[in-house]
Amino acid sequence: ESPGALQGKHVVITAGPTREAIDPVRYLSNYSSGKMGYALATAAQAAGARVTLISGPVQLSTPSGVQRIDVITADDMLKATQAVTDMDVFIGCAAVADFRPASMASQKMKKQHGEDSLQLSLVKNPDILAWVAKQSPKPFCVGFAAETQNLDHYAKDKMQRKNLDMIIANDVSNTNIGFNSDHNAVTVFWQNNKKHLEAQSKQSIATEVIGFIAQQTTSQPEE
Ligand code: PMT
Repeated sequence: ESPGALQGKHVVITAGPTREAIDPVRYLSNYSSGKMGYALATAAQAAGARVTLISGPVQLSTPSGVQRIDVITADDMLKATQAVTDMDVFIGCAAVADFRPASMASQKMKKQHGEDSLQLSLVKNPDILAWVAKQSPKPFCVGFAAETQNLDHYAKDKMQRKNLDMIIANDVSNTNIGFNSDHNAVTVFWQNNKKHLEAQSKQSIATEVIGFIAQQTTSQPEE
């Protein structure tokens, strides 16, 4: 993709996991490292975009030239997203926890004598990507679908249900790629197109994906 392909565009990316507190010392989360989202931020910046990275707790340094907003919970991530103005492209790469504990215990939960099980009550978290896709004007919305089976079917279904412009299906059944790895292999769907990207570094997957997004969001100059 030629440098400057996203010149003048504001690209907003969510990355990493969210953490949902159970009590002051425990939380629910997942294995997302943030690597895929940070690689997309780097690639979008290299393509000339202004980039805002809304990041869950990860061990990565901020790509140069990128504005990073740190959040912990899905609720925080939604609020940070809602506060962003002038979004042209939104990429939901974060592994947002689908549920959070219904209430956070104010003190550390104690083991109860004689009880071998514990019931934790969970409530649904807000869907950040679905919120963005309902805005008008609607930015170009890109989602990820982390699946372990029936990849194509679930991904296309998610694209339709959430009113997305593009979806990136990520096979997370193979632990050599996907969560936490430096590599990934994905299938990208948009309109009637389908493009498979074989296993390679997350940075080169990100460059390809940003190229597809640039093609879709930049009007072609007339010949
Ligand atoms: O961070 P890494 O270690 O590099 O790993 C990258 C990754 C595997 C986490 C990433 O490539 C990925 O697939 N991210 C999405 C994981 C996911 O939670 O998928 P999902 O099928 O649950 O969600 C579908 C889409 O909706 C995603 O774009 C997600 O960001 C978004 N979503 C989901 C739930 C929610 N409450 N809010 C959301 O915005």
